[in-house]
Amino acid sequence: MDYRLGNLKLKARVFLAPMLEPNDIAFRLLCRRAGCGLTWTGMTSALSKAKLDLDDKPVLQLFGNSSRGIKSFMKEYDSRVSGWDFNLGCPSKLSKKLKHGACLNDLEVIEDILRVMRSCTRKPLTVKIRKSDLAFDILRICEEIGVSAVCIHARTLSQGYSGEVDYDFALKIKEKASMPVIFSGVSNLNDVEKILRDFDFVMIGREAIGRPGIFLGLENKSGQLLKNGTRTNTDEHGLKGDEVGFGEYLKLAKKYGLYFRQVKYQAMNFTKGLADGKKLRGDLVGAKTTEDIERIMGRKE
Ligand SMILES: Cc1cc2nc3c(=O)[nH]c(=O)nc-3n(C[C@H](O)[C@H](O)[C@H](O)COP(=O)(O)O)c2cc1C
Repeated sequence: MDYRLGNLKLKARVFLAPMLEPNDIAFRLLCRRAGCGLTWTGMTSALSKAKLDLDDKPVLQLFGNSSRGIKSFMKEYDSRVSGWDFNLGCPSKLSKKLKHGACLNDLEVIEDILRVMRSCTRKPLTVKIRKSDLAFDILRICEEIGVSAVCIHARTLSQGYSGEVDYDFALKIKEKASMPVIFSGVSNLNDVEKILRDFDFVMIGREAIGRPGIFLGLENKSGQLLKNGTRTNTDEHGLKGDEVGFGEYLKLAKKYGLYFRQVKYQAMNFTKGLADGKKLRGDLVGAKTTEDIERIMGRKE
């Protein structure tokens, strides 16, 4: 079955949420391999000159507090992405200082940025918001501008990433919105089925860190939950759990030349939920080279 986000056809309604540190290209590719409908990059500045790896055709998330640089940035990358997103949800200290993310509360500026973004692409444009007094005003602006979907993470700025998600608030957004709504803030993967009855799409953040295999069979629960958290359903997907495991991550990390520091961080993430995870993490602390990591993670003698 195909689903639609703007003019984009999708095979699945479960996405990888934008996450700055975990969502490197190797990890995002594994998520796609496991059946994730669409991946998001972490938040990116339109003024950034960093090299971007986009082979998974992600939704590229921008953040900022003005439209400066957006036109030329989007022109450069539009053909390599599935869509664009604007971050109005980040609660970090830097967001507070620079007034972006969830701290950007000037509706005129928000409107200007979204209008510029809309004018630069025919691809889906989404906006990620939090629970706030401004949420419904932002929703109205999104509707006027022709934003393709709104993503709601129904925690307030002061909650950060903890505390309860206000599901009823998210439902109110869904009720008011004339466009599709993506739900963010899944703390238990067993809730995904219900969320997909209430919302158009769902994105998974922390539950996916170090476990790209969770996307296998997540929507219909046909996947088996393996010991390491990898769901696999070889009949349906033609994949083994290992094909979205750390060995594959490493191959891709090498291919894309990811920094050692990032590979070590992901190795730590992949040990999450493993029976010997604590020991592995202890060993990884001392790893100085990629070869050390390979040896510790058991890929090389
Ligand atoms: C390590 C980390 C980095 C994140 N980076 C971003 C980001 O760059 N942009 C964004 O919109 N949200 C970011 N988020 C928020 C997630 O996209 C998501 O909305 C939030 O974690 C709640 O969903 P979850 O419970 O599935 O993790 C980040 C979250 C985490 C844990």
